[in-house]
Amino acid sequence: MHLTIATPDDMAALGALLAQQLRAGDLVTLNGELGAGKTTLTRGLGEALGVRGAVTSPTFVLARTHPREGGAPLVHVDAYRLSTAAELDDLDIDFARSIVVVEWGAGLLDGITDEWLSLDIVRPTGALVVDALGASPAMGGDDAGDEVIEPRTITVTAHGDRWKDLGWIGAASN
Ligand SMILES: Nc1ncnc2c1ncn2[C@@H]1O[C@H](COP(=O)(O)OP(=O)(O)OP(=O)(O)O)[C@@H](O)[C@H]1O
Ligand SMILES: [Mg+2]
Repeated sequence: MHLTIATPDDMAALGALLAQQLRAGDLVTLNGELGAGKTTLTRGLGEALGVRGAVTSPTFVLARTHPREGGAPLVHVDAYRLSTAAELDDLDIDFARSIVVVEWGAGLLDGITDEWLSLDIVRPTGALVVDALGASPAMGGDDAGDEVIEPRTITVTAHGDRWKDLGWIGAASN
């Protein structure tokens, strides 16, 4: 299934929509180049779950756990520096009791699970936006005035039986 997401707010809203369906044991991978919108989606997801602490890029840690009242915590993983399933496994994430979102998770799930939801985010132009100071928004530039808002296309692929009865997500089951 393909979605078109026009703005960062819409990306966060998609995360919130997804959050309504998630429970302990669920695993979502977000793929797409630097600045695709993976963290923006996760922020909306975390806010909708009501997690403690702001969801930001876990730049200096590989995984950050966000507890929440009366529900499974959100574990937000940045797998950019990981190259094998074994390295992801080494993080000792309590997958069964958490909702886990992995940025850059493609190809890292072999042997970890056969049931996950994968969102592949594409920027149509493909180019990083570089401002006059040489800092792109994706690389941590914080000058919102330079931010270019442009649509993303997302391919949703559901792996395993978990998702098949879940409305719009189920439509992505293969
Ligand atoms: N349609 C859109 N959807 C999502 N983000 C958008 C969109 N248009 C512009 N943006 C901007 O693109 C940037 C996406 O940054 P974000 O940190 O979410 O990307 P990321 O995929 O997590 O990058 P990284 O790989 O560096 O972790 C934000 O600055 C956001 O405002
Ligand atoms: Mg990110």
